[in-house]
Amino acid sequence: MIPTIEWKNGMVRMLDQSLLPNKVVYIDCKTYQRVAQGIKALKIRGAPAIGIAAAMGIALAAQSIKAKNIFELKKKLEPVYEIFGKTRPTAVNLFWAIGRMKTFLEETEDLPVDHIKKLLIKASQKILEEDIKTNQTIGLHGNKVIQKKDAILTHCNAGSLATGGYGTALGVIRAAHFSDKNIRVFADETRPVLQGGRLTAWELMEDKIDVTLITDSMAGYLMSRGEINVCIVGADRIARNGDTANKIGTYSVAVLAKNHGIPFYVAAPLSTIDFSLRTGKEIPIEERHPSEVTSVFGKVQIAPKRVKVFNPAFDVTPARYITGIITEKGIFKPKDLKSLAKRF
Ligand code: MRU
Repeated sequence: MIPTIEWKNGMVRMLDQSLLPNKVVYIDCKTYQRVAQGIKALKIRGAPAIGIAAAMGIALAAQSIKAKNIFELKKKLEPVYEIFGKTRPTAVNLFWAIGRMKTFLEETEDLPVDHIKKLLIKASQKILEEDIKTNQTIGLHGNKVIQKKDAILTHCNAGSLATGGYGTALGVIRAAHFSDKNIRVFADETRPVLQGGRLTAWELMEDKIDVTLITDSMAGYLMSRGEINVCIVGADRIARNGDTANKIGTYSVAVLAKNHGIPFYVAAPLSTIDFSLRTGKEIPIEERHPSEVTSVFGKVQIAPKRVKVFNPAFDVTPARYITGIITEKGIFKPKDLKSLAKRF
C-alpha cells in the first residue's frame, strides 16, 4: 500500500493528495511550516492523517530548535503547537495528536536535548503505527455488519489516504472484501473537492475492490431502487451524544438512508470522539475558499466570478440518524458513547 505520510531522511514526506489520481507525487517537507501549509492546502487531509502530519511536523520543528535543556525546548515548541492548531479547525484528531506530543514531552525526563529530539521523532512514528493497527481493528469489528454481496455507499475518503494506512470506513470495506464477501462499493464523488471521485475511487481500484462512482445527487435514486444495503462514512469529530461532523454532504446521505430504512454507520477511532462537547452544535465547522465551488480547482471558472458562495467543508449528522459507531473497541450506539469516556 502506498504510504500517505512517513518520516524519511530527516524530513516529513507526504503524498500530494491534491494531484491524485493524475499524478503520484511526494512532497519532502524540510520545515514544519511546509507541513502546516500542506495540511491547510489539503495536500494531506482526512482527520487521522492530519493528526499524524501535525505530530511529525512538531518532531521536525524540534530538530532545528536550539535549546540547552528540555524546558527551553518545550517553551520554543509552544508557537509550533499554535501554528498546527490553526491549520484546520474541525478534525479533533489534529488537537489530539498535538496534545499527545505535548504530554510526551511533559512526561520525558531532563535528558540531553539531542536525545529528546530523537524521541520526539519516535513518538510521532508511534502515532502513525498505532493508527494503522487501530484501523485494522475497526475493520474487523465493522466487518460483522457487512453481509455477503452488500452494496455499500461511502462519502468522501475515509481510506488509507485519510489515515496512517488501511482506513476507517474503507478499512471496514477492505476487511469485508478480503474476507471474500463479494461486496460492491458506491463512492459519492463528494463536491466540491471530489475526495470520493479522486481518492476513494483510486484507492479502491488500486486494491481491486469493485467501485462505482456516482455524483452526490445520485445516492437517493440508487437507494430508492433498493441498490444500497448499508452506508459507512468516516468522521472528523464526534460529540459525546454521538452527533458526528464529517465531510459536507454526509448529513444528506444519513437522512436519505433513514428514509429508506438503510443502516448508516460511522467508522472512527476513539481519538475522533471529543468528550468535552455535549452535542454536535459545539463542533467548529471549517469554511473554505469560494473558489472551490466556483471553479474546477482554480482552473476552469464554472460560476459568475463575484457570485456569493457558502462553502462549509463539513456538516453535522445528528445521532438519531446513526445506526452505530464502529471503533477499535467495538460498535456502539451513539447514546452509549458517554460511558466510553470512563471505560477508555
Ligand atoms: O476535508 P477532508 O478531505 O480532510 O475531509 C475528510 C473527511 O471528511 C473524512 O471523512 C474524515 O476526515 C474521516 S477520515 C478517516
